[in-house]
Amino acid sequence: MGLIIGLVGSARPWGNSEVLVREALASAQEAGASVAALRISDLHVEPCTGCMRCAFRSEECPIKDDMRFFLDTVSQADGLILAAPTYFLNVPGPLKSVFDRVLMLSPKWDVRKDEDLKPGGVIAVAGLPPWRGVSRPFFNAFLYALGFMPVGSVAVFSPGPGESLLDDEIVGKVRELGRRVALGEKRSFMPEGNTCPVCDSDFFRLEGLEAECPICGTKARIVMEEGRARLDFSGGISDRWTSEGLRKHLNEWIRETGVRFMAIRQQVKERRRALEGREINWIKPPERERGYGGSEEGSGKGA
Ligand SMILES: Cc1cc2nc3c(=O)[nH]c(=O)nc-3n(C[C@H](O)[C@H](O)[C@H](O)COP(=O)(O)O)c2cc1C
Repeated sequence: MGLIIGLVGSARPWGNSEVLVREALASAQEAGASVAALRISDLHVEPCTGCMRCAFRSEECPIKDDMRFFLDTVSQADGLILAAPTYFLNVPGPLKSVFDRVLMLSPKWDVRKDEDLKPGGVIAVAGLPPWRGVSRPFFNAFLYALGFMPVGSVAVFSPGPGESLLDDEIVGKVRELGRRVALGEKRSFMPEGNTCPVCDSDFFRLEGLEAECPICGTKARIVMEEGRARLDFSGGISDRWTSEGLRKHLNEWIRETGVRFMAIRQQVKERRRALEGREINWIKPPERERGYGGSEEGSGKGA
């Protein structure tokens, strides 16, 4: 059973992400797990600079911030539950910054085993269905990249802070998710309607009579039935987030880009010279003290 950690991807105190993580953790606790929670916005995480030292040379990231703490904390969890809002159709910024830096785990992909993937759960919050955008499958992808397999994801539509608590069906689904993560259940990989069986994506790239999930690469055949399109996933799922798939991507593509670049580095430098000779007026923001400086309610300390 072990430790289940809830990640809150919203900085809004007592927002939907927070209250639903609390519900999921309460249910996990009732199932016998010990629980803890971490607010993503409490972390100080700098942007990835793309230096590639982690992936190319298996070196520790040179950026000294909370990312190593985050990865070490998460690695102690036996299960992970992420709840986060949709901001402008997508993953909120602080969570995306953390996601980008998960490349730091790439040296581990060399030895990662599918049997070691731990259970995860996703609660994807948005204001209204037509504006749900693409966040839900990215939240699932985040868990896969961290080494957790989402047993399921719950879509929540609820704009006001914590108002999802009034929806008994949602609370029930979230509590069930928490219980399943605590019990260490496995994902079924059964598609529900026209959603990707790997990452629950409901947006697809179309090519001929085929639809491809842009997040995990799983392909489906488009079948017309009684005037409606149905996605037939019986051809199998993509190996993108499997241990073998990640290893292949790391070794056959990411690391190869380094080798390829070394061969053309001089040419790039020569072409760059013409640009270096042109003065650029870099527009800089004004120097000021950083920080939000908002009210107690907006400071993440809770109301
Ligand atoms: C900056 C911002 C952008 C938002 N963008 C979207 C959006 O694109 N689609 C949507 O459905 N809701 C959007 N919302 C609504 C939130 O997803 C919704 O209020 C959610 O409950 C917030 O989760 P929280 O309570 O955990 O903070 C946005 C909210 C904010 C503050």
